[in-house]
Amino acid sequence: LTDNVLTIDGPGGAGKGTISGLLAERLGWHLLDSGALYRLTAYAAGKHSIAFDDEAGLAQVAENLDVAFPVADGAVQTLLEGEDVSRAIRTEQAGERASKVAALPAVRTALLKRQRDFSQPPGLVADGRDMGTVVFPGAALKIFLTASADERARRRYEQLQQAGVDASLSSLLQEIQARDARDTQRSVAPLKPADDAITLDTTRLSIPEVVEQLTEWLALRG
Ligand code: C5P
Repeated sequence: LTDNVLTIDGPGGAGKGTISGLLAERLGWHLLDSGALYRLTAYAAGKHSIAFDDEAGLAQVAENLDVAFPVADGAVQTLLEGEDVSRAIRTEQAGERASKVAALPAVRTALLKRQRDFSQPPGLVADGRDMGTVVFPGAALKIFLTASADERARRRYEQLQQAGVDASLSSLLQEIQARDARDTQRSVAPLKPADDAITLDTTRLSIPEVVEQLTEWLALRG
């Protein structure tokens, strides 16, 4: 229990992003959205025409990522080489590409130090797939957040509808299942709970209920 870090891992669409953001705000801690780094690596690779099977080239892109996360109007913006890519990296296609580059060991190694550098006082909420298993093995509290694939597809569908984006529930479910399979079956840092993680199934829980539960567990650890 060396780090003042709360790790929140789990499959895509389980609510990690929303929950991590709310907890970081409530605790006054820093926030690491590690998925964004993989999304940014894939996006930057596309921009610089690096092939998706060029592992060394992709690792170099990851190593040299020029990113900033300024806060504007209460929302975190994502800038890549000064360009606002906040929306561009959130598409299903960007997620799909991210999960492909994330399966390459050299890319993961290249992003390791950058992720660990987010651990600063007073604390860090780290959101991802391998936060508790690889990046912050000494975290004070490790959570594995899940929900059924159907429920995750439904939530994603609602999010997209609200954003005015057309989507089909069945294709979202297929994409979620494909991404789950790729993330859990890869040989390096596969998606799985750390041995000392607490698993929370959010299928039937509201966002405030999840935040309450995690705050309670964190207080017990502190
Ligand atoms: O969480 P998000 O959907 O933004 O992550 C995009 C992809 O990045 C995931 O599907 C996963 O393949 C990869 N990822 C990862 N390790 C992390 C965070 C994300 O491999 N810590």
